[in-house]
Amino acid sequence: MLEHGVLKRVLLVYREAIRRIDSGGQTPTEAVHAGAGIIRDFIENYHEHLEERYVFPRLFRAHQLTGTVIALLEQHQRGRVLTGRILDATGASKTLDTRSRHDLVTNLAAFIRMYEPHEAQEDTVIFPAFRDVVPAKEFLQLGEVFQDEGHRRFGTSGFAGIVNQVAEIEKTLGIHDLAQFTPQV
Ligand SMILES: [Fe+2]
Ligand SMILES: [Fe+2]
Repeated sequence: MLEHGVLKRVLLVYREAIRRIDSGGQTPTEAVHAGAGIIRDFIENYHEHLEERYVFPRLFRAHQLTGTVIALLEQHQRGRVLTGRILDATGASKTLDTRSRHDLVTNLAAFIRMYEPHEAQEDTVIFPAFRDVVPAKEFLQLGEVFQDEGHRRFGTSGFAGIVNQVAEIEKTLGIHDLAQFTPQV
């Protein structure tokens, strides 16, 4: 699922925010708030909704990877709690004191730590198993259901629009240029 790429890019925004706070710089509250908004609308309310409605129940019914699915569901719930805290802490006109900055870093770090293995498991274990248990024709139909739901929620340029929003956030933090991450060797 393409959505995981968006999730990963917001995790990079969160990691840059942690780096700035830890090095004594200003807390990039606007960037973090915008990133958390994308997590809420696009990842939690759309992507995870699809996983919970269409993907996980099929694996349960097939008695496949049930322990992993239970953990993933619990992580969706914990993620929502963390996102709620991150949105609250970075809302309009919030000035963060030392304690609030520390709490924000704790919540951002917990979110990153949970979602890196979460999406890696889904990409390498859950989605391949889902493909195995769903007949080919139904799998194609589900792809259309997912696309229609995306268009309904985010318009026909939905995914590209979300990617543009993430890119704009990255620009405000100076982490949009891919080449800057290439090491000198
Ligand atoms: Fe998930
Ligand atoms: Fe996912």
